[in-house]
Amino acid sequence: MKEEPKSFFIRTYGCQMNELDTEIMVGQLMQRGLKRVHEEELADLLIYNTCSIRDLAERKVMGKLGLLGKSKNKKQLIGVTGCMAVAKKEAIFKKLPHVDFVLGTNNIADLNEVLNDVIHTGKQTLRTDSAFEENLDYLIAEREDNLKAHVSIIRGCDKFCTYCVVPYTRGKEVSRPAVDIETEVRMLADKGYKEITLLGQNVNSYGKDKRESATLFHDLLYKLDKIEGIERIRFLTSHPVDITKELMFAIRDLPSVCEFVHFPIQAGSNRILKKMHRIYTREEYFEKVAMLKEIVPNASLGTDIIVGFPTETEEDFQETLDVFKKIPYSIAFVYTFSARQGTPALRWKDDVPEAVKEDRHQRLTALHTEQSIQERASLLGKPLEVLIEKCTETGQLKGRTRCWKKVVTEGPASLIGTLVHVTPHSFNHQTLIGTIV
Ligand code: SAH
Ligand code: SF4
Ligand code: F3S
Repeated sequence: MKEEPKSFFIRTYGCQMNELDTEIMVGQLMQRGLKRVHEEELADLLIYNTCSIRDLAERKVMGKLGLLGKSKNKKQLIGVTGCMAVAKKEAIFKKLPHVDFVLGTNNIADLNEVLNDVIHTGKQTLRTDSAFEENLDYLIAEREDNLKAHVSIIRGCDKFCTYCVVPYTRGKEVSRPAVDIETEVRMLADKGYKEITLLGQNVNSYGKDKRESATLFHDLLYKLDKIEGIERIRFLTSHPVDITKELMFAIRDLPSVCEFVHFPIQAGSNRILKKMHRIYTREEYFEKVAMLKEIVPNASLGTDIIVGFPTETEEDFQETLDVFKKIPYSIAFVYTFSARQGTPALRWKDDVPEAVKEDRHQRLTALHTEQSIQERASLLGKPLEVLIEKCTETGQLKGRTRCWKKVVTEGPASLIGTLVHVTPHSFNHQTLIGTIV
């Protein structure tokens, strides 16, 4: 027997999907009567919602959890959730005997049950299903933001890129029923939310796993665009193969759908793309980008890149640099390859030396930084639509454009939550600075 916890602390690592899962767990725990605290020492229950995407992500949590073994008081319960829970399973208990439960990404709905088990039996409990079942109550999510909300539309991934743990840590693709998504978005609109970001490892696969369902991703956008009060709809992430013409038309035609597409190419060389199992060539990718630019001329693009994939040569890397010269990305996340347990790429020799990976990372980042300076300069003098999100202590208003650019301006706090037009006159490192039109 253990004592029923009265308070909890939760820390999130990883992506937006994990952030949303945290918000759902917070909702569950608050319904159970627990109070959320923001200092670990004050909590009866500690939850670490983990990420496995790169080795560093895992090492950070393992280090943190290791230290807790020394500082934990006997009353405290410790839970590990998220992708590392699925990737490591029982191995977590072996390495960290002070952990009380391990709960996988597909078992968020079981949190209360698992807590009951731990409390009543006093034994370590593990639940890590390989697939997601439609049993999660999203409506109880406790969000910290009251203007912008993440909304899950599809879980899991069927793509099996050879470097990636996600298909193993989140399981196969399962789309959420469109009516449930509409209900949640309507509820958010009623609460005053102005912006939603639809989440999935690959949002464009939405609906394809449900043969009886006629709702595909672009159909869903048409349904959600009609919901009064939601000014902006964003979505993350899109696999280039599944980006359709119908989606491009939806971006062009639906007022709330933002003209920003995160469209990760991962690498510029066809040989590496093939080895990554990305199932497109650079030429096919360029064709999609050209089509998007033709249909939505003001669209901006984002990408993710992995440098130093096994066998990547300088020539291969030059092809990645060349992609950036051809496509000025608005946002680019550049990662160095990290070999992951259970993935096909682990079997290949991780043969690009760390120093070379770092050098490629720096060269690509430098090129992108230069491009984003040019991009921001090109935005000066023209009014941009900004959703005002907050007011700083010094009285500055902060917000973002439809294409995800940060903007600061002067104005009254009463503008928070409204759309205004701001003409930027200058910019610094990350942010456009302007005046309200
Ligand atoms: N589902 C999304 C991305 C999920 S992970 C998509 O396919 O676009 C986010 C990013 O992490 C990936 O796009 C990839 O660039 C990077 N990533 C994934 N596995 C990695 C690994 N083993 N090493 C380095 N970066 C990795
Ligand atoms: Fe990972 Fe590829 Fe799936 Fe993205 S599409 S989550 S990179 S396997
Ligand atoms: Fe990490 Fe899992 Fe997200 S591995 S990036 S938390 S899907």
